Amino acid sequence: MPFSQGSDSTRTDARWGDLERLRAQGGLYDAVIEEIDGRRIRIGDSWLADFASCNYLGFDLDPEIMDSIAAQVSRWGTHPSWSRLLGNPRIYIDIEDRLTELLGAPDTLVLPTITHIHSSVITLLAGQGHVLVDAQAHKTIYDGCSIARGNGATLHRFRANDVEHLEDQLRVLPAGSSRLVCIDGVNSMTGNLPDLSAMARVCREYDALLYVDDAHGFGIVGERGPGETSPYGLRGNSIVQHLGETYDNIVLVGGFSKSYSSLLAFLALPTWLKNHLKVAAPPYLYSGPSPTASLATVMAGFDVNESRGDQIRADLYRKTMKVLDHVHALGLETPNTSNLPIIEIPLEDGRDIEDVARFLLSHGIYVTVAAYPLVAKDQVGFRIQVTAANTDEELDQLNATLTELAERFEVRRKAA
Ligand SMILES: Cc1ncc(COP(=O)(O)O)c(C=O)c1O
Repeated sequence: MPFSQGSDSTRTDARWGDLERLRAQGGLYDAVIEEIDGRRIRIGDSWLADFASCNYLGFDLDPEIMDSIAAQVSRWGTHPSWSRLLGNPRIYIDIEDRLTELLGAPDTLVLPTITHIHSSVITLLAGQGHVLVDAQAHKTIYDGCSIARGNGATLHRFRANDVEHLEDQLRVLPAGSSRLVCIDGVNSMTGNLPDLSAMARVCREYDALLYVDDAHGFGIVGERGPGETSPYGLRGNSIVQHLGETYDNIVLVGGFSKSYSSLLAFLALPTWLKNHLKVAAPPYLYSGPSPTASLATVMAGFDVNESRGDQIRADLYRKTMKVLDHVHALGLETPNTSNLPIIEIPLEDGRDIEDVARFLLSHGIYVTVAAYPLVAKDQVGFRIQVTAANTDEELDQLNATLTELAERFEVRRKAA
């Protein structure tokens, strides 16, 4: 069979069959978005309210942030194509200084994406030792762990957010072996937070390093304190601060590609480790860096976060609760217990996903369709992401559509 007609592995791997069928039919995946108007998007002739965006703070549409790009491009050109090892435009150092202060971390290192970070740093931290990964950790963490295993580490899996199971596994590891524990911060499907303090306590007790991916929490959750405008806390400085933890034995990973609407990601880490990664992590040595526009919007994002971030988070919380209260009133099941703006609605029968998704589209609602194998078969459903840029009118449209959907389809009901 010639390669032009698909290789053996692409033709015979049934895992991708469902997704490929949905992709090929069009509409639900791989959409071509012709134009946007605020948080409305046009696909073909249909204008849809977008609840699939992860631009939680609406920074992608903020005029102050949009206007920041031209000055940096005229200073640095469109793209600094040195790898970071070869050369760092000054703005990198400014971003890391600003981020270190915001996170209250010992130090920070930025690289283009979280995927780059997981695929390189997990291996370097694991060495020939043991990696223990949460069963529901994000796919990109798993991929990083697989690379670590390929380089000699031993991989273990513990039940999702189960501290006792983690402790059982750590207890029996050979004395003196290195241990790395990988978990999500705010979970990308449930919207919930892990029991970080308990995990950190166990890791410290067994001399393990806790590696946390807070892609979705950074920008939303932050330190608690007087004057906070919502239960999300202040400053959006991520899960470690939000839960009043320290960075002892914790490496925090986060990204700007969600709340800050920019292509950049970071590690919060001790300075010795930062210096080591500067010579050992391939994305620092070889990868093309983030475009200047993204470096500019990160810097401007810090300014907006400082001046208006807490009001924006208050608005995001209000909008999220408008949807969540409605979901609860309809008696629909959602794993979300955190009140963060990630609201998954699982279906009773995952085979309905296509009909449900088409129903939502026909009512002008665009969501993340969580089909197999993007999620496990028993978790098939759809995920609503609320952003501060969604209007109340769009939220009303979403809620009215959910009311109708609950009458028409078998969605999981909350136990009475
Ligand atoms: C938890 C989590 N980690 C990592 C990623 C990937 O991030 P990046 O685009 O920066 O590689 C995502 C994106 O969806 C995510 O949800």
